[in-house]
Amino acid sequence: MSVDYEAEIARRKREMNAVILAHFYQEDEIQDLADHIGDSLELARRAQETNADVIVFCGVRFMAEGAKILNPGKLVLIPDMKAGCSLEDSCPPAAFKAFKEQHPDHLVVTYINCSAEVKALSDIIVTSSNAEAIINQIPKAQKIIFAPDKYLGAWLMKKTGRDMLLWNGTCIVHERFSEEELIKLKTHHPQAHIIAHPECPEALLRYAAHIGSTSSLLKYTEANPGKEFIVLTEPGILHQMKKRSPGSVFYPVPGISGGVCVSCNNCPYMKMNTLEKIHRCMVDRSPTLELAPELIARARKPLDKMMEMSRAVGRN
Ligand code: 13P
Ligand code: SF4
Repeated sequence: MSVDYEAEIARRKREMNAVILAHFYQEDEIQDLADHIGDSLELARRAQETNADVIVFCGVRFMAEGAKILNPGKLVLIPDMKAGCSLEDSCPPAAFKAFKEQHPDHLVVTYINCSAEVKALSDIIVTSSNAEAIINQIPKAQKIIFAPDKYLGAWLMKKTGRDMLLWNGTCIVHERFSEEELIKLKTHHPQAHIIAHPECPEALLRYAAHIGSTSSLLKYTEANPGKEFIVLTEPGILHQMKKRSPGSVFYPVPGISGGVCVSCNNCPYMKMNTLEKIHRCMVDRSPTLELAPELIARARKPLDKMMEMSRAVGRN
């Protein structure tokens, strides 16, 4: 007998007083059953403010860790504990600690896509939607380390005019988009607006009419109804774009991996979550996100700093 996962998840959610949070890169059916969808900052804010007893986090592990750090009293469930992130993998805490110790006069500004341990080694956390505004609040004379995404870091250096010491990490999804395929798409659809996430390399960002977080890209498409868009980010976001702007046309850009593209513009970690796994984690009340209280306390400080500096410039 087949299970009606949507109905079962809704029933469990009521029974356990849970809230389901989903990132824009989740599968369409997961986005459709979530209580809140959003970019990293919006989801962190939702996790911090929720009155629910249980948070079911449909995204990747660092996001669920963020929810636990910001709201440690809640049970945080994650459908697949293996849902990691290449940016997190590219920044091992021990190596990062050693790097930081070599530059004691630098302030450590870290992208939220990192482990709780790396957050705990940082002074301020940022997301792609508030990084520029936060860096602009740091005194000009202050030296900065930016980690782990070197492409986001390079884009921020350009936007803020600041020289920052960059960690050498990348997102395997955004670094793989093919410039050749992008040019082909633009040649076939010359009216299309190219929009891009700042995790893309500069070689791609230079073509973009608009660059920003997933939410910012979505807002741009909503503000320009009835147009064509070539989208340089994970294609999960196209579901919301199509829903909110039914009169517009969206073209995802293929990525290249080993010379061929086989769903290579999909984030393999985000796509680990399924309705079945969401249902299972609610039935089992497991896997849960557990962090040592001492680590939560250390990682909380730079996250609180982000929230404070973000609010100071009217970002959420
Ligand atoms: P945002 O949704 O905050 O733009 O982040 C994108 C991302 O890479 C999430 O993993
Ligand atoms: Fe990490 Fe990239 Fe996947 Fe986002 S899209 S979770 S940065 S691997």
